[in-house]
Amino acid sequence: MNSLEQLVQQAQEDFCAAPDPAALENAKARYLGKTGQITEQMKGLGKLAPDERKSQGALINAAKERIEAALNAARDALSNAQMQSRLDAEAIDITLPGRGRGTGGIHPVMRTWERVEQIFGSIGFDVADGPEIETDWTNFTALNSPENHPARSMQDTFYIEDRDTLGKQLLLRTHTSPMQVRYARMNQPPIKVIAPGRTYRVDSDATHSPMFHQVEGLWIDENISFADLKGVYLNFVRAFFETDDLQVRFRPSYFPFTEPSAEIDIAFGSGPLKGRWLEVSGAGQVHPTVVANMGLDPARHIGFAFGSGLERLTMLRYGINDLRLFYEGDLRFLKQFN
Ligand code: PHE
Repeated sequence: MNSLEQLVQQAQEDFCAAPDPAALENAKARYLGKTGQITEQMKGLGKLAPDERKSQGALINAAKERIEAALNAARDALSNAQMQSRLDAEAIDITLPGRGRGTGGIHPVMRTWERVEQIFGSIGFDVADGPEIETDWTNFTALNSPENHPARSMQDTFYIEDRDTLGKQLLLRTHTSPMQVRYARMNQPPIKVIAPGRTYRVDSDATHSPMFHQVEGLWIDENISFADLKGVYLNFVRAFFETDDLQVRFRPSYFPFTEPSAEIDIAFGSGPLKGRWLEVSGAGQVHPTVVANMGLDPARHIGFAFGSGLERLTMLRYGINDLRLFYEGDLRFLKQFN
């Protein structure tokens, strides 16, 4: 094999072996650069006789062309490889299963809230919403618990340092009962409303949370009696727990804003809680002082109110024994209700 042929082969091998464009350009310089081997051969032509020069020149040119072709092929190969590795790196594997999208669920207490609205809505009760930051007047005073009245200590709450624009003391409402007064002052009897919502007390253990939910019920007209309260509430709990095998009982109690006052207990006729009296609500006939604070005439208007804990109803419905589970956000617990 002559030296030109060897040179071409050597160049082809070097170009193929170049791992990247910079190495390829270095290899090119060894053959085609100013002091490259082909260039040196060209320079040597001058020393040859004219006809030898011609034939040798043609051979060198042919070799040069083959080396340039090899160089271009190597350049193409490198840029193809580069493109391929980019494509690989940026590839989207369309055969991968999707990550999926978690579906949200309704919190068990919200489920109860919605159920309560639906049941009372079906017997003509309006649904009202009110502020969680209340005035001292609406939360206590209007409900017949004047300042310094010992009944206030039944419901310790979180007081807010800033006062409202009228200079009134603000606090987190301890119950939904202020909605009795708010709603009645904006609506004419007959008043038939429930007001579900968040409430707050300084209380925390397995059955008390500093934030919890209540639903207030209020029915005021000219001749609403305890018998109506009993009928409405019995109908409600039977619908809520989906059983007619359930009794209610009224236990005498005390609230400043009702007279007489009662705790409502229920007892299931079957199931794991069978025969146990379980407290579900405070209730009573709206106190005449409260009726007057509603802007109504206590000699003419009369009615009942109740306030039930939504967590309590939820716990009884699903057999949950620790209230704190509702607020821990543990999906293993929450998923069971969806
Ligand atoms: N507001 C009372 C409580 O939170 C419950 C109640 C409401 C009692 C309405 C009587 C009438 O304990």
